[in-house]
Amino acid sequence: MPRVEFSEVVRRRRMVRRYTTDPVDPAVVDRALAHAVRAPSAGFTQGWAFVVLDTPDDVARFWSATTGPGAPDRWLRGMSRAPVVVLPCSRKAAYLERYAEPDKGWTDRDEARWPVPYWHCDAAMAALLVLQTAVDEGLGACFFGVPPDRLGDLRAELGIPDDVDPVGAITLGHPEPGGATGSPGRRRRTPLEQVVHRGGWQG
Ligand SMILES: Cc1cc2nc3c(=O)[nH]c(=O)nc-3n(C[C@H](O)[C@H](O)[C@H](O)COP(=O)(O)O)c2cc1C
Repeated sequence: MPRVEFSEVVRRRRMVRRYTTDPVDPAVVDRALAHAVRAPSAGFTQGWAFVVLDTPDDVARFWSATTGPGAPDRWLRGMSRAPVVVLPCSRKAAYLERYAEPDKGWTDRDEARWPVPYWHCDAAMAALLVLQTAVDEGLGACFFGVPPDRLGDLRAELGIPDDVDPVGAITLGHPEPGGATGSPGRRRRTPLEQVVHRGGWQG
């Protein structure tokens, strides 16, 4: 049985950028991952992977690989308190291989066939399920990018293979007020009528 109505999960979900130091029940992380792999994927390729960091040492390794020297800012102070970091990753090669199979037939493995990089789409869809599970469980989460110039260090630190791309990172923990507000502090939600084009693109 859901703890929160689905529409409430959608409505309540906001990125949380500060956490208490309370641990997260490992069963919750498992449920988030179990939900993640229910995401749709092109050709049912499921070319995603999730690197889970859920010990203080491993979380510290993530932050030291992805941040520079100097005093941490408000964002980093709040985010680095999260007891769990999950890296949703995509593997392009899995898609090229899958679509070269007889039922798809793209044996040339030509990337020009792909309207957009579905490998990243699928990992993003899975990531949203992790974010929504956090809300369902009364926790907070934040999806954020890994700076490109830090990716090499992160790969080396965590042993992530070259053909696996972290599409970002997700902090998971118990929300605490006082974190960075992020872009919603500076921007308003765009009204629906400005983004919905019924019957074609008008206006
Ligand atoms: C692809 C993507 C990248 C993002 N990168 C960052 C980031 O690097 N740092 C951050 O604090 N938030 C990041 N966010 C969170 C957005 O700022 C946030 O989703 C947006 O401002 C809307 O706020 P809400 O999710 O709380 O509704 C990212 C979100 C997405 C979808």
